[in-house]
Amino acid sequence: MEKQISKAVISRLPRYYRYLGELIEDGVERISSNELSQRMHVTASQIRQDLNNFGGFGQQGYGYNVRHLYTEIAKILGIDRQHSVIIIGAGNLGQAIANYANFEKRGFVIKGMFDINPRLIGLVVRGIEIRGIEELETFIKENNVQIAALTIPKTKAPEIAERVIRAGVKGIWNFAHVDLAVPDDVVVENVHLSESLMRLCYRVCSLQDRESGEEKDS
Ligand code: NAI
Repeated sequence: MEKQISKAVISRLPRYYRYLGELIEDGVERISSNELSQRMHVTASQIRQDLNNFGGFGQQGYGYNVRHLYTEIAKILGIDRQHSVIIIGAGNLGQAIANYANFEKRGFVIKGMFDINPRLIGLVVRGIEIRGIEELETFIKENNVQIAALTIPKTKAPEIAERVIRAGVKGIWNFAHVDLAVPDDVVVENVHLSESLMRLCYRVCSLQDRESGEEKDS
């Protein structure tokens, strides 16, 4: 695609995709930006602006063709294709991710898991075998792995990141609490539940402060 789409728009696309998927399940064939706006609690103008980035799939007086938009967003996100994924660190979090079957529906096929704990190596989680970390590079090359999830301690993450990148991985889904330095042709998406929880905490505390302020005022 020639036109650069802003990061903000890209970050909103998965949510559009989810809502459109639900509309398809409900048998809805087309929807206006106003209706979509009510469902998603986003302004209709934001929806029009966002979706106009891709040549505007909406038609005057018709609205959006739900399935078409769903397919186009999938193409933009690249989830119309399959991506091979591995998980490094087969502990609590790694196994929880492996057990979640819905990633496959989005085209993410978890091909293998890796660990250093001999008690875990050889176990199979939802059909996915846990392998020894010494098999990492060969496995990545043989299976054309593009994405690696890191669910290992933060002290181990930089070294493992370097190894997967050298073997050809292009995307790191980083759960370890450390910022990874990567070359320009590799991308990292950090997922930190505790940061999300801290943001929630701030909002809860702000609400409480506001309520106690209102009580004092009254
Ligand atoms: P865990 O201790 O259950 O699992 C970690 C696994 O990594 C263990 O099985 C261990 O043997 C393995 N491991 C250690 N060094 C390794 C290496 N060099 N190569 C391959 N495997 C290795 O821990 P848990 O709860 O699954 O957490 C994993 C990581 O994710 C931790 O760093 C934790 O802080 C982080 N975490 C992050 C969250 C987030 O939201 N980003 C949420 C929960 C945990």
